[in-house]
Formats: sequence, structure tokens, C-alpha cells
Amino acid sequence: MSTHIVWHNHKVTRAERAEPKNQHPCLLWFTGLSGSGKSTIANALDVALHQRGYHTFLLDGDNVRHGLNRDLGFSDEDRVENIRRVGEVSKLFTDAGLIVLSAFISPFASDRRMVRNLFPAGEFVEVFMNTPIETCEHRDPKGLYRKARAGEIKDFTGINSPYEVPKHPEVALDTSVQSVDDCVAQLIGYLQDRELIL
Ligand code: PPS
Repeated sequence: MSTHIVWHNHKVTRAERAEPKNQHPCLLWFTGLSGSGKSTIANALDVALHQRGYHTFLLDGDNVRHGLNRDLGFSDEDRVENIRRVGEVSKLFTDAGLIVLSAFISPFASDRRMVRNLFPAGEFVEVFMNTPIETCEHRDPKGLYRKARAGEIKDFTGINSPYEVPKHPEVALDTSVQSVDDCVAQLIGYLQDRELIL
């Protein structure tokens, strides 16, 4: 860490930034295999919240890797740095008063815990996309499983790179048996029960 740097407290608090929208800033962290439905469900929830008037922002692995994290690959070390940066960016957006939806494979439990620890209790919502790998591989929307099986992608999550299953996620969804609407309703219900939205 750099020396001689001093934290500045802002005059407008995160609660004051969120108050006009009647929302409680929080981070919904979507974790799961490629093809498990992270982006689809995060996008559908984003739309549902937006339509209800909430101020949200969506961060997605593929997109963030086009810009901020374009220097990172898929080694264990790069995935750790990917999640560290995205956790910090997610924190900045919640400090701006937003409800943040972040969709990243985030295969390592220690990295997800690191992001969780950036947030006050109750403001980090781990959403585990518990879709069986057979379904993800069958969907193979980008043809990546096929390439990984053919040996064209090394370190592909679930094939030749690990995914550590969350032990105590706040929400678990399985898009092999739940519709998009079901998943969104479950998430909206969770946010209402915890008074993160009205
Ligand atoms: S991670 O593990 O959290 O750092 O990954 P993430 O930033 O979410 O990026 C996942 C997307 O990158 C594509 N891709 C790969 N995924 C896994 N393993 C390997 N080797 C790989 N190479 C490219 C893939 O499109 C992932 O997107 P999703 O939406 O998960 O399918």
C-alpha cells in the first residue's frame, strides 16, 4: 500500500445519495459457472428494478474484461485480481447509493469472502447460480465448453479449472428448473424481506 495517503470522508453520505430513490445500497453478487444464467438473471433483475424506479448498475465479467480488466486472463492469479478490482468498483457504486448487480464466475470462495468483507452485514447478497454443469455445457452459448473439451481453452472453469461451490449463499437459483420470471421474483422477494427495497 502507498504511504502518506489520507482517507477523506465525503460530506454527502451513501444513505443520503440513496434516499431519493427509497433504496438501500447493496451488492447482489452473482456467482456460478459459465452458462449458468448469471448474466441473464442479473439483466432481468436489473430491468425489473429499473422499471420499479430503483437506481441500479450492472457489472458483468465479459464486459469488464473489455475495459478495466483487459490486462487480465484466466490464471488463478488473474482471476483473484479480477474479483478484487470488481469488488472495489462494486463498493464505489454502492457508495454512490446504487443497488449493484455483479455477475462474475468468481470461482474461489476466498475471493467472494474478500468482497463480502468490504460490505456491512446484510448489504452483500451472494446469489449462487446452482445450475448443473451438464445444463451449462449443453447450453454452451458461446461454444466455450466445446473448445475446452477439445483442448483449445486451458483453465476453463468446471472443465480444467476449479469452481468452489458457495456453502451459505443468501440466494440459490437453478435455471435448469426455474424460469427467468421465477428467479427474478425470488430475488425481488429477498430484497423486500430484507428491506433493501420497498
Ligand atoms: S472469473 O473467473 O470470475 O475471473 O471470470 P469472469 O470475469 O466472470 O469471466 C468469465 C467469462 O469469460 C469467458 N471466458 C472464460 N470463462 C471461464 N474460464 C475461461 N478459461 C474463460 N475464457 C473465457 C466466458 O465467456 C465467461 O463468461 P460467462 O458469462 O461466465 O459465460
